[in-house]
Amino acid sequence: MRKLIIYTLFVSVIMSQACKKKEEIQTPAADTVAVAKASVTKASFGKLPDGQEVSVYTLKNKNGIELQVINYGAIVTSLKAPDKNGTLEDIVLGFDSLAGYLTPAPYFGAVVGRYGNRIGKGKFKLDGKEYTLAQNNNGQHLHGGLKGFDKVFWNIEEAPSTEGVALKLTYLSKDMEEGYPGNLNVEVLYILTDNNEWKIEYKATTDKKTIVNLTQHSYFNLTGNAKRDILEHKLTLHADKLVPVDKVLIPTGELTDVTNTPFDFRNETVIGARINDKDQQLELGLGYDHCWVLSSSDSVKLAASVYEPTSGRYLEVYTSEPGIQFYSGNFLDGSLTGKGGVQYKHRYGLCLETEHYPDSPNKPAFPSVVLNPGETYSTQTTYKFSTK
Ligand code: GLA
Repeated sequence: MRKLIIYTLFVSVIMSQACKKKEEIQTPAADTVAVAKASVTKASFGKLPDGQEVSVYTLKNKNGIELQVINYGAIVTSLKAPDKNGTLEDIVLGFDSLAGYLTPAPYFGAVVGRYGNRIGKGKFKLDGKEYTLAQNNNGQHLHGGLKGFDKVFWNIEEAPSTEGVALKLTYLSKDMEEGYPGNLNVEVLYILTDNNEWKIEYKATTDKKTIVNLTQHSYFNLTGNAKRDILEHKLTLHADKLVPVDKVLIPTGELTDVTNTPFDFRNETVIGARINDKDQQLELGLGYDHCWVLSSSDSVKLAASVYEPTSGRYLEVYTSEPGIQFYSGNFLDGSLTGKGGVQYKHRYGLCLETEHYPDSPNKPAFPSVVLNPGETYSTQTTYKFSTK
């Protein structure tokens, strides 16, 4: 009997050991699955001068694409995408720490608003009443003013999405902030899909008639970690017309045909091929710094694509907006040192800012940017990453 008890005990110990082993073996397998699953994590990114804590949120999709976002300016500080060999590298300009973003920076990675782009002399009228905004760019208003949406604290929370991992960023822009009428409730959704897209959904509501034109100001350099300038990138813009500007970069009001000009990107063209051509618009912009009129009237359409031959990276931009500002980084001059100690020299990044045309509040023929109480401003833009 005693022998039987000892034997039974012995067998059950062996059995439980075997089961434990099984659990241990299963655990790493489960971990492997977890790594390939999309995720969102949060860490500290320092403090603003007023003591407010800034966090960095890291979104990862199942293919390893990684997008980092901070509360300050709704800034995308890093975006890692694979090259043709699968090597993940950062394809946006920015800084390693919060301090970099707090020194005057040219809107790296930020949401710009309340009005992205320029408004002539910073003045516009609504129902006969004139409003005056900051003249922060050559006597004109640019990107929301002295303290635009790129320089404010955004609340961030993880948001449910059927399309991928997502963050909801919200900001209340108070009545008359930077001179704009109406309390504007802004909501921006950043979604990273398993289809390798960064999808942005902008929404806003107001309690007084106002103007809104929100965009994203990321500087892309598809070489990865900004190895050289963007002049060898090949660009396609699905636009037959340009919004030409005057000497302070305010639209003249015409929409001109791009045919036979250096602004015709309807067929994929190397950015550097014509950038130094003798052309009045190129001289005014010091390169490309213009808004194109998107040809398709579809609600969401392919607006632009960029191909970088050495890495094989390919970026497509889809939007519901009527225009796209292509800025070739003309004001970058090497005075800013960015991530990993890389000096951001002339034309080291390019922006593709989907938006309504500049100075629309003063150009009645341009699509309207007016938002009334009871309406919801709603636009979307998707940046899609692949290789070829
Ligand atoms: C926008 C403008 C440019 C420049 C950059 C920031 O793209 O159109 O003229 O101001 O922002 O440097």
